[in-house]
This record gives sequence, C-alpha cells and structure tokens, in this order.
Amino acid sequence: MAADALFRPFDFKGLKLPNRVVMAPMTRGQSPAGVATPEVARYYRRRAEGQVALILSEGTGPERPAARNDPDVPAFHGEESLAAWKTVIEEVHAAGGLMAPQLWHVGGIRTRREDWAPQGPYDSPSGISRPGHKFGDGMSDADIADAIDAFARAARDAKQLGFDAVELHGAHGYLIDQFFWEGTNVRDDLFGGPELPQRARFAAEILKATRAAVGPEFPVIIRVSQWKQQDFTVKLADTPQAMEAWLGPLVEAGADAIHCSQRRFWEPEFEGSDLNFAGWAKKLTGAVTITVGSVGLTGEFIASYGGEKSKPASLDELLRRLERGDFDLVAVGRALLQDPEWLIKIRDGRDDELMDFDRSAMATLN
Ligand SMILES: Cc1cc2nc3c(=O)[nH]c(=O)nc-3n(C[C@H](O)[C@H](O)[C@H](O)COP(=O)(O)O)c2cc1C
Repeated sequence: MAADALFRPFDFKGLKLPNRVVMAPMTRGQSPAGVATPEVARYYRRRAEGQVALILSEGTGPERPAARNDPDVPAFHGEESLAAWKTVIEEVHAAGGLMAPQLWHVGGIRTRREDWAPQGPYDSPSGISRPGHKFGDGMSDADIADAIDAFARAARDAKQLGFDAVELHGAHGYLIDQFFWEGTNVRDDLFGGPELPQRARFAAEILKATRAAVGPEFPVIIRVSQWKQQDFTVKLADTPQAMEAWLGPLVEAGADAIHCSQRRFWEPEFEGSDLNFAGWAKKLTGAVTITVGSVGLTGEFIASYGGEKSKPASLDELLRRLERGDFDLVAVGRALLQDPEWLIKIRDGRDDELMDFDRSAMATLN
C-alpha cells in the first residue's frame, strides 16, 4: 500500500504539519545535571532534517524537587537548562522542523540510581507507587498547587523559548497518571474519589493552568495511556462511556490533542469494534488524536528494553486506519530513534534500507 496518507498535510491549530508523523517522546538520559548538550540538539535537528512533522522531546522535568528521578534527564526550569532547550529549538527550526517539549513529572516512580537522590521528597497522590506499595505520604494541598503551577510555568517558558506546542505526560503510571489510577490514588479530597472524573481533576487543573499560561492559540497536547508500567493490564476506562467521562473534561480544560499511548497501535480498545485507543478518543471527544505503538516494527518497546530485536514491519494496517480517519497523527518512537532518515525512506519507497531496531541504539544519540 502506498504511504500517501502519511504524507497529507495537517493543520494542527495553526501549525502547518507537512505530514502526519510525530516523533514520540523518548528519554535519552544524556543531559548531565539536567542540561541538554549540543549533541542532544543535533540529535533532534537530524529528525527535523528527516522530515518529521512534529518532534516531541524526551520527558523533561518542571520545577518540583523530585520531578525527575535521574540527573541525566533534562530539566525544564532554571537558566542553564532553559538556555540549552533554546539551542535545541533553534536547531530544529533551522532545519524547518516543529517541536514541543514533553513535560514529565515521575511522581512516585523513584530513582534507580544509588549515587544520586532528588532534592526533595517524591510527589504522589497517596504515597503509593503501585497497589500495595506504600512508601510515604501523599501530596499536601500546597504541594498539589505548586505542582500545577510548575507545569504551567514550564509551558509558559516553552512558548517563550519559541517551541511550537507543549505536551503534558499524563501516561505510563507517572504523576498525572498516578492521580488517574485508583491503584495509586486513594485520596478522599477534591483530587481523588471512586469515579475517574474525580481522579482526573489534577490533570484538568494542570490543563487549565497551562492554557491560562500560554493563551488560547498555543497547541497543548496531553499524553494518556490505559496501561501502566506498574501493570500492563490496567484499563482506566473499560467502556466508551467511561472513556468519554475521563477524556471529555481534559479537552474542556484546554487540551487540543490527545496522544493515546498503546504499546501496539492495532489492538482494539473495546469489544465489538476494531477502533484503537486513538480511534475511540477522537470519536468520543472530537479532539485531534495521535496514535502510537510499534509503528513500522515487529516488536513492542518494553520488550526492546530487555533486548528483543525488532524487524521492519508493514505499514498497511496503520494506513488503513489513518485513511479511515480514525486518528490524525502517528507517533513513531524506536524506528526514528534508530534511524533519523526513516520517514524519508518510507516516502521514497526505500524499504530495503529500513533498519532493524536494536537496543544498542538507546545508548547513543545518532
Ligand atoms: C528509549 C525510550 C524512551 C522513552 N521515553 C519516553 C518518555 O520520556 N515519555 C513518554 O511518554 N514515552 C516514552 N517512551 C515511549 C515512547 O514514546 C513510545 O510510546 C513507545 O516507544 C512506543 O512507540 P514505538 O513502538 O514506535 O517505539 C520511551 C520509549 C523508548 C524506547
């Protein structure tokens, strides 16, 4: 199947995207003391040169003492870190690309480093990292207010630095997702409760504050997932009605696009339909949606951490869904991490030059 559908331009809230491919956010851990290096800037620039329509940065921490759980993950506050991000966006713009930072707070997912600790206690809704694992106290009202403000300040800084959009990381069992999930949020105040829309309030408040900080025109994306790194089988929303009650308020609060993280994009979300997560999110909210998960590769990304290799895979099923209008944009992770020219090769039909994905690519900034 020709990949024409991938190369149709798309107007995303005034951003003229020349095609439908977004670079998925991927932590690289190569920004010592939270400051992106010139190599990091050039790494993103190569994806812009590779014709990627919109680049989402690796997760980058807003200004809370334990937003990051690794010192080599970039921060998104402070003079030095922000100056480095300015270099990144200038490089990407010089190559004709567009880019959004992904604002990421790890919440109760604590560091694996033995030689380093964050500057303050870990934030989390209830001091629970996964069901049955209590490690401390939940956030106070003041912590929550400050975290909301920290996201909004980072979004305002992103706009001021010249970024084209911003993405909030609300997926994969990190802070915002820890609020969504009843397994990690047992609060009985305004930010918790038995119903998903109650637990979505933290995300909605961040979105409102972010929207107020960046104004009505600046594109705001939120990434969400049903699955958690703590438990792949979790489904926050087990019916379309529950999904609408979860995501609708996020769109009302200011999200322009929902980035629907799946490990395999072709997996149907609910019985009785082949629509995937991004398909349902678009149908239920009318927002722009982004799909993701093993595009162009045979294996999924968690297994690749363990060393599983992936081969190039057909795009036919993805194109069928894109043609049908299920979602608007397609995020590609490892295929673009491995090969900055992946999209050019797809466009030009150079299929024999597509590369396998090998874990060794994660260690470099090629
Ligand atoms: C090395 C690596 C780092 C990642 N870091 C992040 C991250 O910082 N934020 C995030 O939302 N997802 C992260 N992900 C998940 C990707 O954004 C993407 O959802 C996942 O890799 C599936 O896409 P793929 O199959 O095309 O690789 C990461 C994935 C990889 C492989």
